Amino acid sequence: MVQRVRKAVLPVAGLGTRFLPATKVIPKEMIPVIDKPVVQYAIEEARAAGIEEFIFVSAEGKESIAAHFSPHPELERALEEKGKTAELKLVRDASLPAGAMHIVKQGNPLGLGHAVWCAWELVGNEPFAVILPDDMVLSNTPCLKQLIDAHAQVGGHVVAVEDVPRDQTNRYGILDVLTDDGKLAKAKGLVEKPAPDKAPSTLAIIGRYVLDPSVFTELDKKTRGAGNEIQLTDGLNRTLDKVPFHGLRFEGVRYDCGTRVGFVEANVAFGLAHPEMADRLRPLLQKLLK
Ligand code: UTP
Repeated sequence: MVQRVRKAVLPVAGLGTRFLPATKVIPKEMIPVIDKPVVQYAIEEARAAGIEEFIFVSAEGKESIAAHFSPHPELERALEEKGKTAELKLVRDASLPAGAMHIVKQGNPLGLGHAVWCAWELVGNEPFAVILPDDMVLSNTPCLKQLIDAHAQVGGHVVAVEDVPRDQTNRYGILDVLTDDGKLAKAKGLVEKPAPDKAPSTLAIIGRYVLDPSVFTELDKKTRGAGNEIQLTDGLNRTLDKVPFHGLRFEGVRYDCGTRVGFVEANVAFGLAHPEMADRLRPLLQKLLK
């Protein structure tokens, strides 16, 4: 019987150097796409997938992330007094239930593997989700729910994957595929950021994972990998003799908000998917392209 996935780890301790100067003071996760900070989409996706506890791996200067998901009594009172019920609902809906949010500080940004390791104590010995808010997914079924459903069938580690152009393999963790039924690919190995001619496939891991807790023991060894960082992919790779690893080709489209072009693309895509905005946005975009 596969254990239910109740907890999600959100690593948000990165420096966001690709978004300077915007990220000098504002965490990149707090930059809005349309009308919500990027990280709110991640939390909404996790809640829609049944996650009940949210563990932010954070850093100094990122306090606004926790504030965004906490009640704001002054603002709520002011909106109430003005009879702004719709706005009040938006503010309240952004708050997480009491006790559902945990913050752990990474201290030093030593890599994604290290960020996930920081949540060990709070996750304990149960399967858990990892969401990188930078990767936004527009889909009919929340991407994380798709992973959790697949995990209930196959257990072990289940991560979201997509085929990338071969000249981009050096940006991703890449699967060395054992079997592939077109939807689920079982991996016999993982390579972090391989050069295109060394990549065992073009199946790349994106920012959604459901992981077996055995990965923590491997991350605890603090082995450095690509870029001299403690890589999550390397930790996972070292568990593959004990735990099955599947990549799920999810339904939906991913937007990489960690890059400037991806961020603009996400704004357009989410705008075109926004019920109150799409009809006004479409002619504006057509005009700009003329
Ligand atoms: P990125 O590779 O996008 O790094 O991290 P970054 O620092 O956020 O951004 P750039 O490259 O400087 O522009 C992927 C995810 O892992 C988290 C980041 O916050 C992001 O969600 N991360 C990365 C950590 O939490 N800690 C780390 O040490 C590294």
